[in-house]
Amino acid sequence: MRIGILISGRGSNMVALAEAIDAGRVPRAEVAVVVSDRADAPGLGLASARGIETLSVERRGRARAEHDRETIAALRGRGVELVCLAGYMRLLSPEFIAAFRRRILNIHPSLLPAFPGLDAQRQAIGHGVKWTGCTVHFVDETLDGGPIVAQAAVPILDDDTVESLSARILTEEHKLYAAALALVASGEYEIVGRRVLRTTNS
Ligand code: GRF
Repeated sequence: MRIGILISGRGSNMVALAEAIDAGRVPRAEVAVVVSDRADAPGLGLASARGIETLSVERRGRARAEHDRETIAALRGRGVELVCLAGYMRLLSPEFIAAFRRRILNIHPSLLPAFPGLDAQRQAIGHGVKWTGCTVHFVDETLDGGPIVAQAAVPILDDDTVESLSARILTEEHKLYAAALALVASGEYEIVGRRVLRTTNS
């Protein structure tokens, strides 16, 4: 399965996915391209250093639909079958979601449906919850609301700051995203209503 990874920034989840694939933990998958919507995303250099093709499709000053059309064309041109958003900070247009329906994954730093949108870790601390975590989900037209593939829980400690909590969640994100990608790339799941169910016992 040819994977396209979309980033906007540092790209640590992208590296975690690439490492998992290289280590054979995601059978039948390869990273076809890493695309950023910002030419200065540090993750682009990390992908290049791993020998992965990189591309920047600059978002600045462009309407979402037009920008997305260029990204879709770039992904299709490379035979991408599954899109992984990894810190991609632009909402996708309906056209993009339709072009890769049920073939776009995202990782979000909370236990969805709690705390969708920006600053999920700050929202969790502000709300006073004792547990938060991270979620890998399919992307649909709702904000962080598509079918959930996998989740990991992380406690919020009394002395946590947004930074310390984010760092602890990020460690879990890297493991969770690779495991979720392995499941989706295997094809051994079905989506029943809003639920993503494993279809084998392996
Ligand atoms: C992660 O916390 C991810 O959950 C969120 O954006 C951050 C991206 O970090 N969507 P990185 O670019 O993968 O290091």
